[in-house]
Amino acid sequence: MDNAQLSVAFSDIYQHQPSVVCHAPGRVNLIGEHTDYNQGFVFPAAINFGTWAAASVREDRNCCVVAMDYDNAESQFSLDNIESDPEQSWSNYVRGVLLVLQKEFSLPSGINLLVTGNVPQGAGLSSSASFEIAILKAVTDLFSLDIDGVKAALLGQKAENDFVGCSCGIMDQLISAMGKKDHAMLLDCQSLTFDHSTLPDDLHIVIINSNVKRGLVDSEYNLRRQQCEQGASLLGVPSLREATLESLEAAKSAMPEVVYRRARHIITENARTHTMFDALKQNDIATVSEAMAASHASMRDDFEITVPPIDYLVELISGLLKDKGGVRMTGGGFGGCVVALVPKNLIENVKALVAQHYFEETGYQATIYDCTATQGAFA
Ligand code: GLA
Repeated sequence: MDNAQLSVAFSDIYQHQPSVVCHAPGRVNLIGEHTDYNQGFVFPAAINFGTWAAASVREDRNCCVVAMDYDNAESQFSLDNIESDPEQSWSNYVRGVLLVLQKEFSLPSGINLLVTGNVPQGAGLSSSASFEIAILKAVTDLFSLDIDGVKAALLGQKAENDFVGCSCGIMDQLISAMGKKDHAMLLDCQSLTFDHSTLPDDLHIVIINSNVKRGLVDSEYNLRRQQCEQGASLLGVPSLREATLESLEAAKSAMPEVVYRRARHIITENARTHTMFDALKQNDIATVSEAMAASHASMRDDFEITVPPIDYLVELISGLLKDKGGVRMTGGGFGGCVVALVPKNLIENVKALVAQHYFEETGYQATIYDCTATQGAFA
């Protein structure tokens, strides 16, 4: 799919040209998992998979959305009465975004939209954030709204928190809006300031989809968030970003054991995110490798968000990469993808190794994406 093809499809459906056509990428997080809603640090990159949206204004107050990926299913609603649609749950991302925009900007008219995307769903690569940001970009351009990338990310997050019902952090929407081609982004989720950094020339982002569909993700995700908030409150800090390992150890006996481990993951993960960012800048791949391995172990043992097929993939690939690259689960967890930073000369070996062992061991077929870091929709 590209913008020109989407324009043609739009014209076929609506009998006029779209006024705007835009694209928002999905993302892969290199390190810093579940730290975003703890006001901490994350290190994602926007990837070359995303959502496309084409749009035009209407003369009435209705919104019409057609989803190419659902056999051109159509959803219609009035801007003045936006409710959730349990039958066409894909449309709730559009409804949620339009509701926050309508509340904040009192939109002058309804719109026509056509959307399509190629971010695998339920794989931890932010298909929903890329969908939200694509709609935000389309509406921003249609009505020349005063929305920059950070504002767009906050509005997308609000739609997801309040309308879709997932208490996600800011990472996915912000990288989809503000990612930079060929760079990863160290994002401070408290101040929302960020620093782009290039990846070493020889290291490629390889994503291995376990094809274990995330089950129970929203409820488990929201539970992790509550446990982190409980940890911060027991430690007497506004968020776990302010906690230290020393303060955690001192409070250990007064905390439920599970809350202690959740907090330990967040505190150590924030530190690892900085370590990896610095190590990549210095081309110190052995340290990158260690940080990613420790991040995975912490997600498996302390945060308990990995599943056996994902643990198997990480073990398999780290055995091949050794200290020449790194590998860990990426995203919210409970299935989804593994991200590996792989030297060019080992990419085919990684693919062969996964093809040889993964299905036999787990009964799942893996899908491998050789990725590049791309530009965000508002960047
Ligand atoms: C999901 C959420 C993000 C973040 C990650 C875990 O992708 O949408 O906000 O919390 O999980 O790092």
